[in-house]
Amino acid sequence: MGFKQGIKSILFSVLSVNACYLSAQGPEEAAREVEKALHLTPSIENGKKVYMICTVCHRPEGWASPDGMYPQIAGQQASVLIKQLADIRARNRDNPTMLPFTSPRLLGGAQEIADVAAYISQLPMSSNTTVGPGYELELGERLYKEECAECHGKEGEGDKKDHIPLIQGQNYKYLIRQFDWIRSGKRRNADSKMVKQIQRFSPREEFAVLDYVSRIKPPEQKVAKPGWLNPDFPNYARMPMPSMPAMPPMPAMPQMPSMPQMVR
Ligand code: HEC
Ligand code: HEC
Repeated sequence: MGFKQGIKSILFSVLSVNACYLSAQGPEEAAREVEKALHLTPSIENGKKVYMICTVCHRPEGWASPDGMYPQIAGQQASVLIKQLADIRARNRDNPTMLPFTSPRLLGGAQEIADVAAYISQLPMSSNTTVGPGYELELGERLYKEECAECHGKEGEGDKKDHIPLIQGQNYKYLIRQFDWIRSGKRRNADSKMVKQIQRFSPREEFAVLDYVSRIKPPEQKVAKPGWLNPDFPNYARMPMPSMPAMPPMPAMPQMPSMPQMVR
């Protein structure tokens, strides 16, 4: 299947998606799928094929978009990717943009989730992501060491075993959005201990710690060489990020003729 044709058929399937293609819902369903996917042997080769539908938004490289809309997913722990995919698909984490692409018909089952997670986790990362304003990095560092490192690791490397995300090389704005959603409970799949831990953060502390986190770069061996583009998708049409399509200017509204006076 050629790339263009692939995209066409994907868009067609998304449009024709209906209730019977949507998967079972809820945290229990997601947990079952995670358990299943974690125990399968992944195929990176098949993961590459599955990842084609993801390139529509995450691009072949899986790097963050500067506006903070798309996170960096390249290099993430495979177990975390599996959990997020299962949670999003079971509507245990809201992501209306991505939801239709996680239907069993497009994404497949636990095996395909394991495959695509393995593929994404071995993609080299970008270290060129947006950071905060840098006002209070000392405070941020202290908070990180005291409140986050025990779970996310000294260098934000995460932990495969407990599905703890790697948060190195993540976009500042994305970090703020997730932190706020985790704290408010909007991100329902969050870690309950983390939710408790961050309740009493003031805005100043939140911005300081996330500014610090946004500056933790991935280790050199995980970072792509300068100028690297993912060779697995040679036909990918490189357009500006799809998050902000240029809108044509609105034509001026024609003047409405005034209503004739009703004669009673
Ligand atoms: C239509 C656009 C779109 C498509 C297609 C898409 N995604 Fe996403 N994805 C997003 C957006 C937007 C977010 C960030 C949502 C948020 O802010 O919570 C996201 C978030 C994620 C996350 C969570 C990352 C994290 O750090 O927690 C993972 C994992 C992910 N996508 C993987 C995939 C995979 C795998 C595919 C293909 C099967 C895919 N996405 C297809 C738009 C898309
Ligand atoms: C008790 C362990 C724990 C502590 C402490 C903790 N976290 Fe987390 N954090 C988690 C887990 C687990 C997740 C993933 C939850 C899920 O399954 O979606 C997470 C998710 C996140 C995410 C979302 C990542 C993504 O890719 O979407 C961010 C950002 C984050 N944590 C930042 C922080 C910061 C900053 C601190 C310190 C102020 C902190 N965490 C403290 C366990 C913890």
